[in-house]
Amino acid sequence: MKKRASITLGIESTAHTLGIGIYGNGKILANSYRTYSQKFGGMKPSDAADHHAVVFEEVLREAMANAGVSVHDIALIGYSKGPGLAPCLRVGRTGAVLLSSMLKIPLIPLHHSLAHIEIGRYECGMEDPLVVYVSGGNTQLLVRKGSHYSVLGETLDMGLGNAIDHLAREMGLEKAHGGEIERIAREGNYIELPYTVKGMDFAFSGLVTRCAQLLPKHSNADIAHSFQETAFAMLCEAAERALMLTKKKEVLLCGGVAQNGRLQGMVKAMAEENGAVYGTARNEYNKDNGAMIAYTAHYLYDRYGGKYPDRDNNIRPKYRIEDAPA
Ligand code: FE2
Repeated sequence: MKKRASITLGIESTAHTLGIGIYGNGKILANSYRTYSQKFGGMKPSDAADHHAVVFEEVLREAMANAGVSVHDIALIGYSKGPGLAPCLRVGRTGAVLLSSMLKIPLIPLHHSLAHIEIGRYECGMEDPLVVYVSGGNTQLLVRKGSHYSVLGETLDMGLGNAIDHLAREMGLEKAHGGEIERIAREGNYIELPYTVKGMDFAFSGLVTRCAQLLPKHSNADIAHSFQETAFAMLCEAAERALMLTKKKEVLLCGGVAQNGRLQGMVKAMAEENGAVYGTARNEYNKDNGAMIAYTAHYLYDRYGGKYPDRDNNIRPKYRIEDAPA
């Protein structure tokens, strides 16, 4: 059977989301996902992995139905091989390897953050941006150097998303995630907090610890507001230094925390004050999703003429972006 040209399936399973996306005929055709929540049990990675295995077939069928394709139309598969939680990564890898061998089609193992960058470039029409990558597990300033992305600066301890989640748990919020912190921060007033920038690197753990100490004496709104203002200013200062050093003309904000409206506004202002164009993808493509994996697999397959250099299908929970062919 002749396959419809360029239909690519992408599988994302690095953390709490199992996402399956489909890219084809020059556009994203489907972006289906299910996100693990505590109703499935505790917060152990193995519980999230069990969730991903249980919903895998349902999400795959939904993505194919939304895209109007059958499994036999799929010509290429991509999946996240890392970084991420090993039990979760194994679910995506197993599904991808199985489908690829059954359908006898090529398989591309991808770096998760690289997919966040490439879908952002695609959405914003950017050529060669300074990348401000903000996710749960990592926070980095990146630029392309030849066939890889290079890290100019990064968090010295935790990712910004994990810092925000940690703060939300310290507050005892029922919805302990970044969207809730952003919402309550709008009502708060500023109080001074520790500010840690070292060149183009930065650190968040001291900020979280100080917020936890101050919580009994201050409202959640004041702490959330001050945390955001301080953490985002740190990131913007380091990014501005990177922008001046690299003289890039575009700034791309991407990753799960890029959904935060206040962070978007601050990075946009910083970029525009320095004469650079600012952009970020729509929220659907900044959160963890399968469409970014499908698009990036398609892009890299084309870019390398069907010979993407990484053929190793072992998962890499601590995969560094400098090691990923881009
Ligand atoms: Fe992510």
